[in-house]
Parts: sequence; structure tokens; C-alpha cells
Amino acid sequence: MLNLTNIGLLATYNSNTCALERTHDCTINIDDGIITDINGADVSRRKSIDCKGKLITPGFVDAHTHPVFVDGRENEFMKRLAGVSYQEIAKQGGGINASISAVRNATEIELYDRVIKRMDKFIEMGTTTLEAKSGYGLDTESELKSLRVLDRVNSAHAIDIVSTFLGAHAIPPEFNGDPKGYFTLLCKEMIPAVAEQGIAKFCDVFCEEGYFNVNDSRIILQTAARYNLIPRIHADEFTDSGAAGLAAEIGAISADHLMAVSDQGIKDMANAGVMAILLPGTTFFLGDHSYAPARKLINAGIDVALATDFNPGSCHIQSMPFIISLACLYLDLTIDEALKAATWTGACALNVEENVGSIEVGKKADLIIWDLDTPEEIPYNMTSVPIQNVIKNGNLVISLD
Ligand code: NIG
Ligand code: FE
Repeated sequence: MLNLTNIGLLATYNSNTCALERTHDCTINIDDGIITDINGADVSRRKSIDCKGKLITPGFVDAHTHPVFVDGRENEFMKRLAGVSYQEIAKQGGGINASISAVRNATEIELYDRVIKRMDKFIEMGTTTLEAKSGYGLDTESELKSLRVLDRVNSAHAIDIVSTFLGAHAIPPEFNGDPKGYFTLLCKEMIPAVAEQGIAKFCDVFCEEGYFNVNDSRIILQTAARYNLIPRIHADEFTDSGAAGLAAEIGAISADHLMAVSDQGIKDMANAGVMAILLPGTTFFLGDHSYAPARKLINAGIDVALATDFNPGSCHIQSMPFIISLACLYLDLTIDEALKAATWTGACALNVEENVGSIEVGKKADLIIWDLDTPEEIPYNMTSVPIQNVIKNGNLVISLD
């Protein structure tokens, strides 16, 4: 039993009014990790946390990350500074394939240690639920190993991890010149093996020129769906390949990136109810300027979530508060839209909004006590993360008192 008192401002999406709401001067009661009362009577026998009149928000739901790798690729960052593009670096043997051999050679415990440290960082910055993809193993055993690591980290760490199989991240070097061979391996061996182990909820494909085309992506995701893996797509990141339209056609839960999405793709997504997960950190980290057309997506009636896309190549950013800064600056989102996108809509994009993504009675007590007074100060602080406490499942997991 935990009681949060003296909350100056509670800012959360409310699923009854379907709006981001701000409530001044309230309290929250938590029993067995669940929110049981907001603004109710204080119960004196409870353990209390005095929020000192500060801001409370839900913990962030980061709906798109790639945390299962060994080392960073800062050498590629330097190459980009010298003018070489992400795509050119990949053609020269860098990119996703440059992360594969280390993952293949790592023991499960070595990978586990890397991932757990990354989860410590995520939760310190207020992320209480995250989606995590495999995708740096790219053979059956290494992909299964990556997903097993996520499963074990999920059990051992306070953060909640929702796993995605991303075997279709790139064509691994041993299938150079034989992409159909890898495609067959994915559909005939890897997807059935992942499904059999029950260690992934979603299946993702990097649908992009030089990776997987629309036709192959369609078959991979349809195969995955037959094995009860819910489809989602890395769509139209660098070029418009029609991936947003494919997301609509096959009923993917989300299309992610969308920096190069076409007007037709937006229409198709809106008609089919596909959510957009926008990753402005990637555009920023690549030194690019073509941010996804967030306003157009919102005006078309599409639900927009924000996520980090944390990975060793195109976005080495773990901070959702910084992603909110970028969304306000470059995606033209208001702070209320950005806060909703980083919590509630992220949860919807992972099908976990019944339990997390907002501070409401009956939901998990996953929340942030900020050393701030208003949500506006989150993007304003830009690189510092003024968090006082993080509460996950009703437990105090980060305490900077
Ligand atoms: O989402 N686009 C595909 N995958 C990652 C990049 C992964 C990497 O470069 O290692 C992304 O940007
Ligand atoms: Fe990604």
C-alpha cells in the first residue's frame, strides 16, 4: 500500500474523456502495484511519498527500440560527419550487418549483461514499458538467443519488455546474392521457431530499398500473422516504397518511421486504422532534416506515438524526454500531444493500454515524479532529465532524493 501525497499537477491521458488532462493538487493510492484511487481520502497507515507539489506523469512507453546488440557503431557516426550517408555506409559493409557477428559470437549471458545495463538507463529516464526487437542475429539460433535474452531481462528487470521478432532486418552476408534463400529461411524456419518458443508478440520487417521489398514484406508478415505474431513495419524511412500502403493492406498495428511517406500512404493508413510510430531521434541523429509529416498524419486522423528507435547505428538515443523535445521542435506537436504520444498512444501501439500508458484507477502504478512543475518544462530542459522518482508496478525503482 502506497500513497502519493501533495501532487502539484497530475498530467495524464484520460481514456474516458479521450484527452490529456491536468489535475491540480491531488493524491494517488496504490495497492498491490495497481492504482486504486485518485484524489481519494488519505489512508494514514499507508506508506507515503510526498510529491512536494511537483508534476506527476505516466511512465513512458517507448514503442520501438533495438537494444539487443553488443557494441555501438560510433565509427559510422564519424563517417556521416564526414559526409557519407547511412545508406552508403551500409553498402560499404557497415550498417545493420556490422552488428551481426558480435551478436552471433556473444554468449547469452554476455548479451544479457549488455541489455540489462541498457534497461537501467531506460528506466532512469522514465521509460517503464518498452518494445524491443531482435534483428542483429539474423540466423535462427542467434535470433532465438536475442529473444530469449529479452525474455530473461523482462523477468529480472523492473521494466516491462514487449518483444518483436525482426529477423527481416537485413539480408545477412552469407545470403549475399541469394536474398530469396534468406526469405525462405525466414518464412519456413525462423518464424515457426520463434512462434513455437512463444517469445515474441510482434513481427517487424525493414521494408526499404536494399532490404525487403513490399512483395517479400507482405509474405513475411502474412506468414508471421498465421503464427499469431502481430505485424508491424519499418515503413518509408528513407524512400517511399509503398510500405505504409502495405501496412494498411495487411492490417499491421503500426507503420514506423514514415519520413518519406506519400499522401496516398497516409490515406491508406487512416482508412485502415494503422497507427504511426514516429522516431524523430533517428532523423536528428542521422543529421537529416526530413522529419516525418506528423501534422499531416494527425490531420488525417491517424494516432501518432513517439518512440526512440534506440539502436547502435541510426539512433543512439534512449531518452524519451529528449524525443519529446524533438517532437515539439520538429514534428510540430504541442506538449500535450507529445506527452500523450509518448505514453498512451505508445501503449496502444503495443496493445497494452489496458494496463499501462495512463494514470487511471485499475491500471498499473507506473509513473514519474518530476522535479518540475509543468509538462512544458520537459521539452524545455532538453538534455537534462529532471526526474525525482520512478515508480514501476507500485515500487519505487528510481529515487534521487
Ligand atoms: O530503425 N531501420 C532499420 N533499423 C534501424 C537501424 C539499425 C541499425 O543501423 O543498426 C532503424 O533505424
Ligand atoms: Fe527501428
